Amino acid sequence: MWFYDILLLNETQSHEAQKDKKQTWGLAAVSAKQEVLKVLENNRGQYVSGEKMAENLGISRAAIWKAIKGLQDMGYMIDGVRKKGYCLTGQSNRLSLYMIQPLLKDKYKNIHIYLYDQIDSTNRAAKELANTGAPNGTTLIADMQSAGRGRLGRTFVSPPNSGLYMSVILQKGIFSDKAINVTTMTAVAVCRAIEKLTDKKPQIKWVNDILVDGKKVCGILAEASLDVDSQRINRIVIGIGLNISTKESDFPEEIRGVAGSLYETGFSPISRNQFAAAIINEVLEGAEQIETGAYMEEYKKKCVTLGKRVFFERDGIRYEGEAVSIGDNGALIVRQDNGVVIPVSFGEVSVRLVE
Ligand code: BTN
Repeated sequence: MWFYDILLLNETQSHEAQKDKKQTWGLAAVSAKQEVLKVLENNRGQYVSGEKMAENLGISRAAIWKAIKGLQDMGYMIDGVRKKGYCLTGQSNRLSLYMIQPLLKDKYKNIHIYLYDQIDSTNRAAKELANTGAPNGTTLIADMQSAGRGRLGRTFVSPPNSGLYMSVILQKGIFSDKAINVTTMTAVAVCRAIEKLTDKKPQIKWVNDILVDGKKVCGILAEASLDVDSQRINRIVIGIGLNISTKESDFPEEIRGVAGSLYETGFSPISRNQFAAAIINEVLEGAEQIETGAYMEEYKKKCVTLGKRVFFERDGIRYEGEAVSIGDNGALIVRQDNGVVIPVSFGEVSVRLVE
């Protein structure tokens, strides 16, 4: 099985099995901790008596106490007051299936979600899962990645507690000439999710970068397998890396100033669980529209590359011109100064500001 970066159809990726440091909360494994968390989350800000919880959940008070202790150890801010009970006080920054799932649209509530404290790359693991038949919509989310991957073999810096690193598996076939649409659709989906949750105004740098206040806060890496006979791609993995409360000092020096995050102070009023759910909802909704390209007008409106002078290299030759439009297949249309128009589907295009 070959996997290709959708944007670079000639680049092969190896997908050797690697050992994941996995802490997975699959849907099947519902523990007392998760049940207690759900009750506290539903009564956020109010005290719930341990006795009542024990009664309703059909477990002992000792089990409730143990679950509360476990949740506090995991970083949840739970206040315990004698005779009043327990209360979830602060917005936990911890990723939790039981905070994500209630925020999913009904039609996506049953998707499989895997959470990892740490993994090398969610895209790498998602490709393996996709190959073994993981159902459409299966999503992998990590608190941190030790080998997060970006386009063109680059590294995607993925520090803990501050970003969202996720891969969504689509089990659907589309013709390879529409492959780039997976990325354009995802860019719009991530912008929509950010707009729904915050007052930020995300923009898109063709083809896969999301900018806020001129800095890249999110990168997208879509990968898929290609059936050479039918020229269709299938088993698509959409990798999304969103910097939410990553501080500038957490980025390596060479990308500071270019990379940014939604809340550079290091505190986000919106939890990573909320972002995860909103992105899953938007991406899966968008996936249903890949063939029609219904999101394309919005992509163009948000695309900062349009109207700018750009340059790119193809086969060692440098081309320069104005980015005048985006074709139906997601290609950037560049008009050179001599009037010749070139569609750019793959490779790197760098935006250059008009002087
Ligand atoms: C880019 O900006 O070049 C794309 C970055 C994509 C990063 C995400 S983070 C989750 C998923 N797993 C990876 O290893 N990469 C993608």
